[in-house]
Amino acid sequence: MKNEAKEEIARWGNTVKQDPYYPAYHIAPPVGLLNDPNGFIHWNGTYHLFYQWMPFHTGHGAKFWAHLTSGNLVDWEFHGPALAPDRWYDRSGCYSGSAVEQDGELVLFYTGNVKNAEVERESYQCKVRSPDGVTFEKLGVSIELPEGFTPHFRDPKVWKAGGSWHMVIGAQTEDKEGCVVLYDSPDLESWQYRGILASGLGYMWECPDFFHMEGDVLLFSPQGLEEQGADYRNMYQSGYIIGDFDTGFRTEDFRELDHGFEFYAPQTMEDDFGRRIMIGWMGMPDGGEEYFPTHDFHWIHQMTLPRELIQKGDLLVQKPLVEMEELRTRKVAGGSQEKWKGKIPASSEILLQNIEGDVDIELFRYITLRCNNGKAVLTRPAMDGSGEEWRARTLESPLTEIRAFVDHSSLEIFINGGETVFSSRIFPEKEENSGIINGDLSLTVWELRRQTGGETV
Ligand code: FRU
Repeated sequence: MKNEAKEEIARWGNTVKQDPYYPAYHIAPPVGLLNDPNGFIHWNGTYHLFYQWMPFHTGHGAKFWAHLTSGNLVDWEFHGPALAPDRWYDRSGCYSGSAVEQDGELVLFYTGNVKNAEVERESYQCKVRSPDGVTFEKLGVSIELPEGFTPHFRDPKVWKAGGSWHMVIGAQTEDKEGCVVLYDSPDLESWQYRGILASGLGYMWECPDFFHMEGDVLLFSPQGLEEQGADYRNMYQSGYIIGDFDTGFRTEDFRELDHGFEFYAPQTMEDDFGRRIMIGWMGMPDGGEEYFPTHDFHWIHQMTLPRELIQKGDLLVQKPLVEMEELRTRKVAGGSQEKWKGKIPASSEILLQNIEGDVDIELFRYITLRCNNGKAVLTRPAMDGSGEEWRARTLESPLTEIRAFVDHSSLEIFINGGETVFSSRIFPEKEENSGIINGDLSLTVWELRRQTGGETV
């Protein structure tokens, strides 16, 4: 099965890379569909990232785990499939999960998804060991579905604290309520069910994560939230609750992480420098994927940039990593002009500083960001061709800085040092490079280089 995936790369790899919408410095699949980040870890001085991968077409289905490594979180070497859906307990997909280190080895946990003939679902939490980060040995099922939950029970995230291992899993109760459940283990072998850690928003929570900052943070992707004004306008959400592992997490404290059109299923890890780094899928399930023009080139979706998380009061701030500055090749614009009009390279960073008052940006005659009266509004043509769509957010503090990363068909906007973030895919006319920026501010635009990681498949 892994060989068939590799053959797909050989067959379509060149076509994929010829797409003018293919990113230069974001992680995207060599062929097929990419979704959630998985198994993100800094191990033996190397960053490892896996992702949900469907190599055979640009839709969802029996997912593989693709594997990448990096020394600097900028340049990523692609190593092909690490896990294939080739066992009875994962034959409909090696679904999302995480990585930890134990006794020098890499240990992965993922969900084995099985859809049987009657399209009923089964779900198993499975374990994998890798002594070298190159070969991956499946060790079978660690946890079966407990009573009280539907088979929507998946995406184990494991961490160690106080000499014991913990695992959170995204779940749905039999009453169709979304929740996160907790397991403990002394050795990553035997797992004890500890109950529901938090519940109550929507009908299913996917891809949970847990970590300690100033407070305890529970991060997850709830499904089934009702749109409320400018909030929850995407098909599904991703966000967090800052609470307390012992006394609990209150759903009324839930905050969305990102306010753009495409952001879902993020995962974090702590690196050797003590940074909490998050990467997300710049996609949205059931959110108009079928309209993306990249299907014609045999690929779809990409990751966000990795971002450092910092707690500021009850807010998680997302800062582009300092490593991203290595991508800058040449400055293509700079200075202070109230009305700027110029060319924005397809792969670039735009930095607006010392902002006084309102700002208006239009890129590629396609997407606009308008910040006025303490509110940011993003618009683009609706993916299904039905007019315009928008997302908006009230800023946390007066506008002083906007930093934006453009990469062929994506735009990530970090306002005021990452207090407010918008991540979106963009599909302007190919070759269109116009930018208009109005406001009292100082502007710098850099062209960014291609990431130099290759493929060792
Ligand atoms: C989130 C998700 C996960 C699941 C995976 C399957 O996007 O639905 O819950 O493990 O994708 O690819």
